[in-house]
Amino acid sequence: MDFFDVATSTPTVRRFLPREIDQRELERVFETANMAPSGSNAQPWEFVIVRDAEMRRTIQRIYEALWGPYKENSIIRGRTTLSARAQKALAAGDGFAASLAIVPVHVFIFLDRPKMRVPRGTPEDLFNFGATYGSMFPAIELMMLSARALGIGTAMTTMLSSREAETKQLLGVPEEYQLIALVPMGYPADGFKRPFRKPLWPRMHDGKWTRAWTRA
Ligand SMILES: Cc1cc2nc3c(=O)[nH]c(=O)nc-3n(C[C@H](O)[C@H](O)[C@H](O)COP(=O)(O)O)c2cc1C
Repeated sequence: MDFFDVATSTPTVRRFLPREIDQRELERVFETANMAPSGSNAQPWEFVIVRDAEMRRTIQRIYEALWGPYKENSIIRGRTTLSARAQKALAAGDGFAASLAIVPVHVFIFLDRPKMRVPRGTPEDLFNFGATYGSMFPAIELMMLSARALGIGTAMTTMLSSREAETKQLLGVPEEYQLIALVPMGYPADGFKRPFRKPLWPRMHDGKWTRAWTRA
């Protein structure tokens, strides 16, 4: 696939087919993700690939327990302003949480903290987050784009971070690793659409903040 077609048709997929992913395809996705840049070329990512059905059911239970309160909060916050788009997103989130276990591959991404040499929770961690978390998301995005190029859908999720200890225990992850994201991966039930984004041009500045970008 053409790169620009891939990059503009990689929405969050929340409805999946229960179809398995060929292991060689999967490995191609991770070999590509592994090419991502990172601070000092530390390459601090570790991937835990969960394919076991019972394990996926357990992950779904944890996710669902977090999704409910998250959804309630979104409704309370947006009571008077919840747009049709937001309502649709919440409904999609409901379906996603309720069917997570059928998604054939659950990818957990962990950050190797010692590799980044910035202790977690210190002030340096806060102002240096570009180097730490910023060293993770290029690899995650590259993984998602590579999957898309092979017809495989993904959904970035960070919901499980609030149950990090439980998640790490479930997966047998050592203390020094930090949970960054869970990305369920599988074939989409509804194909790939171009995601909705706000217009770019009002957010483009030419040399100075006060000078609007003029399109060619
Ligand atoms: C850092 C990050 C965390 C996210 N966490 C979640 C999540 O926990 N659950 C979920 O359903 N979607 C999650 N998303 C997906 C966003 O809701 C999605 O990227 C956004 O709504 C745009 O979706 P679209 O690309 O399909 O338009 C997350 C996305 C990002 C970038």
